[in-house]
Amino acid sequence: MSLPGTDNLRLRPVGSRANPYQMRYKRCAQFLSATEKAVDVSSATRQFPRRKRKRYFWRRKRKRLQQLLEFKGIQRQTPSDYRDDVRQLYDGPKGAVLRMSSLISLHTPLLGQLIRRREFDVTRFRDFLDVGSGAGQILSHIVRETSQDGARVVAFDLSLEMLRRARQRMRSRRPRYVSGDLMRLPFRRDSFDCITCGYVLEHIPDPRPGLRELTRVLRPGGSLLLLCTEDTILGTMTSHTWKCRTYSRDELKAACAEAGLEWKDELWFTRIHRLLRLGGILVEAVNPASVH
Ligand SMILES: C[S@@+](CC[C@H](N)C(=O)[O-])C[C@H]1O[C@@H](n2cnc3c(N)ncnc32)[C@H](O)[C@@H]1O
Repeated sequence: MSLPGTDNLRLRPVGSRANPYQMRYKRCAQFLSATEKAVDVSSATRQFPRRKRKRYFWRRKRKRLQQLLEFKGIQRQTPSDYRDDVRQLYDGPKGAVLRMSSLISLHTPLLGQLIRRREFDVTRFRDFLDVGSGAGQILSHIVRETSQDGARVVAFDLSLEMLRRARQRMRSRRPRYVSGDLMRLPFRRDSFDCITCGYVLEHIPDPRPGLRELTRVLRPGGSLLLLCTEDTILGTMTSHTWKCRTYSRDELKAACAEAGLEWKDELWFTRIHRLLRLGGILVEAVNPASVH
């Protein structure tokens, strides 16, 4: 069988014992693999023009820098030591100024706006769990927006001090305050139809067990509003202040999928946040009814 383009390949058997048929086969294979490489290179160049390759190069460099700069204590300690550190951090002076810093960074008012505009419509739900309530930044909006319906609201946090601060701030008596660890939620399966979890997953080295716990207590068809620090330069700086890690959207999405949660909507505080990719990852994930 003659292969196209191989006619003028000359065979030079080395030594008397060289098998000319084997040599021909080898040459053909070399020729074909070289041609394939040439095709690959040219198609790769066509698919990735110079500008795109440059952008990809700088993106990789930036990612590498972020990885170098990110807070790494979370991987260096045992999970229980790290959890104790987090509890102490939020019990202490940093936790005491958390509410103020959320106001200054506009996180609390912007989140309120998002909920008021029904971009995440809380009036659809009856049973709320706010995981990592902190100073009640999300809790206060839920309580206000559902004041007519008298929905059941549970505030949950690792730090007793933070729960005390949130309760002091809340004007309503509706929320119930429960202290514990997200990795072992003290609730029955399918207890809530809405869970909010703002900037908590960054305090967990591997998000998957935590997300599985959230899925367990979330009813089929229920929604999870997830807020996370993104692995940007700003996020990296934040990771040192709050001794936490950051997430890429791909990693978080894959972890949600593994836990049985589907990303329904990616949200942004404002158009400017979307344009400049600020404010971290905000996503509504759902527990598909078919899972159960
Ligand atoms: C940055 S604050 C977030 C406050 C609020 N959710 C918000 O969106 O601004 C993080 C809170 O998560 C709590 N937290 C951290 N790790 C936790 C865990 N494993 N289980 C429950 N709560 C946790 C901390 O105590 C702290 O109050």
